[in-house]
Amino acid sequence: MMKLNILNLLKLIFLLLFFNNVSLAHNHFPITTDSSLMIKRGELVYNQNCVSCHMIDLSGAKNWKDLDDDGHRKAPPLNGTGHTWHHDDKTLHAIIKYGLAKLVKNYEGKMMGFGDKLSDKDIDSVLAYIKSYWPLDLYEFQINMSK
Ligand code: HEC
Repeated sequence: MMKLNILNLLKLIFLLLFFNNVSLAHNHFPITTDSSLMIKRGELVYNQNCVSCHMIDLSGAKNWKDLDDDGHRKAPPLNGTGHTWHHDDKTLHAIIKYGLAKLVKNYEGKMMGFGDKLSDKDIDSVLAYIKSYWPLDLYEFQINMSK
């Protein structure tokens, strides 16, 4: 009886470790553009949540480098003409999930996080969609950075 319990305990520990590792190993980065289904899903997410500021063609707000009337940053382009590709996937995922304002102390940003609305998979998909706009050299640079 005692033996069986220890065995079960070991099994339980093993299972816990295993599943814990699986969740830790849920490293979804780098996000590639390999799946057209994922890109399509990302497009839907984008069109519903991001277009109003980042524009339908991902070109961002007009004169995006200027500040808006109340001194906040305008929505930058996400299509590769800005500096989105300078950030690795972990950073981009976090910006979308939490908003830059949550991540950077004393920074007032207008983009709120989408963590309540979008799943991690939605966010990954929207990133795949965004990356599908990038020129190949920037895409590859950013993929290497995100590994
Ligand atoms: C209310 C306007 C608004 C909406 C809606 C919005 N954003 Fe933004 N986004 C911004 C602004 C402004 C910034 C610049 C950072 C800041 O000031 O918070 C930004 C920054 C970003 C960045 C960092 C880009 C870079 O080059 O540094 C990413 C990525 C991004 N947004 C993706 C998204 C996605 C994906 C969505 C939809 C799920 C979205 N945004 C919705 C306004 C918006």
